[in-house]
Amino acid sequence: MKTRKFGSTGRDVSEIGFGAWAIGGSWGNVDERDAKSALHAALDGGVTFIDTADVYGDGRSERIIAEVLKERSGSEPRPFVATKAGRRLDPHLAKGYTAENLGAFIDRSLRNLDVDCLDLVQLHCPPTEVYYQPEVFAAMDRMVAAGKIRNYGVSVEKVEEGLKAIEYPGVKSVQIIYNVFRQRPARFIGECHQRGIGVIVRVPLASGLLTGKMTRTTTFAADDHRLFNRNGEAFDKGETFAGVPYELALEAVDEIRDLVPDNATMAQFALRWILMNEGVSTVIPGARNAAQAKANSAASELPPLTDYAMAVLSALYQEKIAPHVHHYW
Ligand SMILES: NC(=O)c1ccc[n+]([C@@H]2O[C@H](COP(=O)([O-])OP(=O)(O)OC[C@H]3O[C@@H](n4cnc5c(N)ncnc54)[C@H](OP(=O)(O)O)[C@@H]3O)[C@@H](O)[C@H]2O)c1
Repeated sequence: MKTRKFGSTGRDVSEIGFGAWAIGGSWGNVDERDAKSALHAALDGGVTFIDTADVYGDGRSERIIAEVLKERSGSEPRPFVATKAGRRLDPHLAKGYTAENLGAFIDRSLRNLDVDCLDLVQLHCPPTEVYYQPEVFAAMDRMVAAGKIRNYGVSVEKVEEGLKAIEYPGVKSVQIIYNVFRQRPARFIGECHQRGIGVIVRVPLASGLLTGKMTRTTTFAADDHRLFNRNGEAFDKGETFAGVPYELALEAVDEIRDLVPDNATMAQFALRWILMNEGVSTVIPGARNAAQAKANSAASELPPLTDYAMAVLSALYQEKIAPHVHHYW
């Protein structure tokens, strides 16, 4: 597993990390044994970066991470654990992002993760107005000064939110969707790199579409967001299938199949495409079992994509996908 510098945090992290949403909830049933073995497999594969949030399974994801790390304690340096705050607000409004509320969310994550200080807290896709409220970022600076968090960052929906967020000097990282079906952030990621901001790439497999395993007849459980959020019914529709209409995405996936080399799966190929951007610090595929986690970690060992493959994927995005997504995020 190769590592990359995580912005100016002073930490190096594995270029493939572990996204821990699916082991919390909203992806159909993932039983605790599978969840734990997925995380163990990722860590065995050299993963040293875990992304979670206080709302994933209402804290279940954070608690499972704490248990797994306890089971492994002493056997390796502690991985970097990034969590998020803000989405416990109900209703989720900018005015709720007060020092008091954020402090309470952070205290809860400290308990769930069973640590004295959190490695990284990301504002969890807050309403756009929050990026224009310096007092929110000042409150996060005070959390760092108080020793509750080592670093803070933002998880954004839009490139423009990221551009605004990195104007605040305390912001150490940006998490954003970037994948074969979401190519617009490429230049923004380069800008972050130049400014020493860590970049965490989420939804790298377009919620599983870019594994090539989905078909027109694939079904999803009632509590899986890939069934209930296709049009943004529960949260931003870009978080589900990267916002690409399902049938159209399947056609595009068929065009990608021929590019995948024999020694890789389509999922690994899609992850390696993301790593071609040197501004990316870590990519955080979600995995619901050990086999997926192991295969995803191995993507770090693949050679770079060919110029030909890069050109075909760029043209595919421009011609087929961009008209549906480029102007939104
Ligand atoms: N607002 C935010 O900040 C935000 C939002 C979304 C996600 N995230 C973070 O980003 C992480 C990753 O994004 P994501 O989980 O939404 O999407 P993703 O990584 O694009 O897709 C994950 C899903 O793809 C399937 N999969 C993964 N690896 C596979 C493999 N090797 N072979 C076959 N299938 C595989 C699994 O689902 P099935 O097996 O069921 O198909 C898995 O749950 C999350 O876990 C979370 O940490 C953050």
